[in-house]
Amino acid sequence: MDLQQHALVVPCPAQGHVTPLIKMAYNLASHGIKVTFANSEFIEAKILAAMSDEDKKQCPLRLVSYSDGLESHPEQRNGLGLIDCLKKVMPDNLEKLIKQINHSDNKEPITCVIADLAVGWTLEVASKMGLKKVAVWPAGPACLALPFHIPKLIETGVIDENGSPIGNELICLAEELPLWNSSELIWSSPANLTAQKFLFDCSLSVKQAAENASIVLCNTYYELDSFSCAMIPNILPIGPLPAIKNLNPSSGTFSSQDSTCLSWLDKQPSNSVIYVAFGSTTVFSQKQFNELALGLELSGQSFLWVVRSNIVNGSFPEYPNDFLERTTGRGKIVEWAPQEEILAHTSVSCFFSHCGWNSTMEGLSHGVPFLCWPYMWDQFYNKKYICDVWKIGLSLEYDEDGMISRHEIKTKIDNLFSGDGFKTNALKLMEDAKKSVNEGGSSYENFESLIKYLKA
Ligand code: UDX
Repeated sequence: MDLQQHALVVPCPAQGHVTPLIKMAYNLASHGIKVTFANSEFIEAKILAAMSDEDKKQCPLRLVSYSDGLESHPEQRNGLGLIDCLKKVMPDNLEKLIKQINHSDNKEPITCVIADLAVGWTLEVASKMGLKKVAVWPAGPACLALPFHIPKLIETGVIDENGSPIGNELICLAEELPLWNSSELIWSSPANLTAQKFLFDCSLSVKQAAENASIVLCNTYYELDSFSCAMIPNILPIGPLPAIKNLNPSSGTFSSQDSTCLSWLDKQPSNSVIYVAFGSTTVFSQKQFNELALGLELSGQSFLWVVRSNIVNGSFPEYPNDFLERTTGRGKIVEWAPQEEILAHTSVSCFFSHCGWNSTMEGLSHGVPFLCWPYMWDQFYNKKYICDVWKIGLSLEYDEDGMISRHEIKTKIDNLFSGDGFKTNALKLMEDAKKSVNEGGSSYENFESLIKYLKA
């Protein structure tokens, strides 16, 4: 009898990473691969608390956990200290975990590690233990092409050894790709050079880990950005994951999703509601938060707004005076929403987003145009694709005080609705995305070849 293939899937412990990796894991399980999913203990507790008993019963994955080493410094879990600590403790902890699993399950030992490139050193454990190595890049392919170009950028004097741009020129990786503005590089943090150096080193580790893997899975489809894909050896685009039918895991979210917004959406006219959500980590100043609220009010449109309890510098926000009363009926606010179901709802007209890659793929897979307000990391470059390459959205611009004003918000909402091409382009991309994940499509075929590789 064939050995049952058994994959250990290891995401970076953050929402934007667990979400796509758990989807991939569900897809693997539905193709007959046994999957063990390893979270840090801290994240696993959150996931289990957000899951219903029914979800737990139906989950096809085995959930296991390891210590992130920050039990006595929990405050560091919100910053770069987390990655620093994981680098030190994770290799040993995962090796122990794999040995434990193999010991308790000796008929079906781990045969492959599928690791997030943000914790790519995990693949060294796989090398050491003689296991197959598959990497996952949870952001867009263009942002993975960038680390592959670091040596050339240093050699040609575009950046220095710390990743700091030399001069203010725009950076061109290939003629066909949008230019990188030097302040938008994924490691860029001009106000904090220590953080920049740390993030730059992380980008180098990403490159190294990607080269160490046999395959690099990516949540996109080849035709969406063939130029970037062509620049990455071993890339296997298998998405967009949100376009895959019936792949909507009920697990993996760190907070319970407030589904009252779905019944509220049911009562709204078709194509009438702006969905406003900025992912899991974006924070605003109280002043900027007020301006956003007033911009939504000024637009005169209905809105469904995700306001996390830590969205204003880590705390609960305050709303402008009487804002909630004035927008009663046309505004619905929740702390955490079932985002994919919302984007699939016919009442939603556009997605006011920070352009995180998951949100980008979710909006694109459902044919929803974007209003873009990127915040950090890859989000600026994702915005360039949304606005300049795919032409499915508009970007908000800062005023001279460094604020996005309520008037800018209203103007861009008006422009998005009066520009007729955005929705048409978004619907066309949605169809292309569906084709790629359905039988015969490029991502479908790529996933089949992944399964063959794992079963070989
Ligand atoms: C981070 C980075 O910001 C992003 O740029 C990178 O590409 C991945 O890691 P995050 O900021 O959380 O992720 O944004 P995003 O990638 O959009 O992921 C957020 C996820 O949370 C999405 O899958 C979204 O559906 C989900 N979500 C968000 C909810 O389920 N409910 C909500 O209310 C809001």
